[in-house]
Amino acid sequence: MGSTLKSMSLLPQTLALLALSLIRILPFAETTSDYSTLVYKNCTSKLVTGSTKSHSESLHSFFEDLISKSSREKFYKTTVGDDNNGISGLFQCRGDLSNNDCYKCMASLPEMSHTLCDKARIQLHGCYVHYEADKFIEERSNFNLLHKICDEKKAAVLGFEEVRDAAFAAVESGVTDGDGYCKENYELMQVIAQCEGGLGACDCGECVRVAAEIAQEECGTSFSGQIYLDSCFISYGYYPDGIPDNLKKGREGSKNNNNTGKLVAIVVGGGAALFIGYVFFMALNRLGKKEDGGLALAEAQDPSRRTHTGRSADA
Ligand SMILES: *[C@@H]1O[C@H](CO)[C@@H](O)[C@H](O)[C@H]1NC(C)=O
Repeated sequence: MGSTLKSMSLLPQTLALLALSLIRILPFAETTSDYSTLVYKNCTSKLVTGSTKSHSESLHSFFEDLISKSSREKFYKTTVGDDNNGISGLFQCRGDLSNNDCYKCMASLPEMSHTLCDKARIQLHGCYVHYEADKFIEERSNFNLLHKICDEKKAAVLGFEEVRDAAFAAVESGVTDGDGYCKENYELMQVIAQCEGGLGACDCGECVRVAAEIAQEECGTSFSGQIYLDSCFISYGYYPDGIPDNLKKGREGSKNNNNTGKLVAIVVGGGAALFIGYVFFMALNRLGKKEDGGLALAEAQDPSRRTHTGRSADA
């Protein structure tokens, strides 16, 4: 009876502990709705009155076109309307999104673009749209910085820059042999790179290299950062307690995928071997003490003998 009561009183504590650990994990979890979170928006508007109605109609059919394509494509570029009220633009979903998530991300865009813009860029977590009125968007590989976010929290860890730069180098090469998307887990760092569709492999690698340089210069030792250029973006995060499993899931770059896994296996395996060795040593040690004068251990524990053995080995 007493013991039942005692264990019952422990239940709330256990639950609280569980809740606490969940809270620690939750902020990292990226749910589908996060894809639709607005990162930034830039709208340039200098429309003359009178053309507003047809512009809004063009914009409407432009978004309709894009959204209907987003359930099948990650990248799509189009022009709608006529010469007077044309809209040229494109959308790009992040390469790791499913068709359904890409569609959901795109479908959430019109709500955020009530304003009529001549030229606009709307970046959500999982997708972005870019359009210009009365102008064809030419083939471009533009490395202009559009937006940057650097975490105020700075890492004060020795070797942080080395890990960061190695992780950046991994995505730079990773994007060139993929389809413009790459995710790399490097030690405690995760980096995602996404190029705009239609960008060639070389341009994509170059764009990501420029973005990484900006991240190095602007964000320095920030725990996390996002650098958005015209034709690509990178996003990185440093996880001192290890990269959460839910972030590790999903598509990764084609290179170096298993290196971290291997490293972990080596570390864990090595640790286990050391531990077993230690247990074995302790057992032997006890045995040696009990039997008084166990040969091998007596030798190892005698410093004078050890130096002697060392010297003779040198000679
Ligand atoms: C928004 O876009 C315009 C034109 O492309 C550019 O001149 C301006 O600097 C941008 N503003 C921001 C805040 O990025």
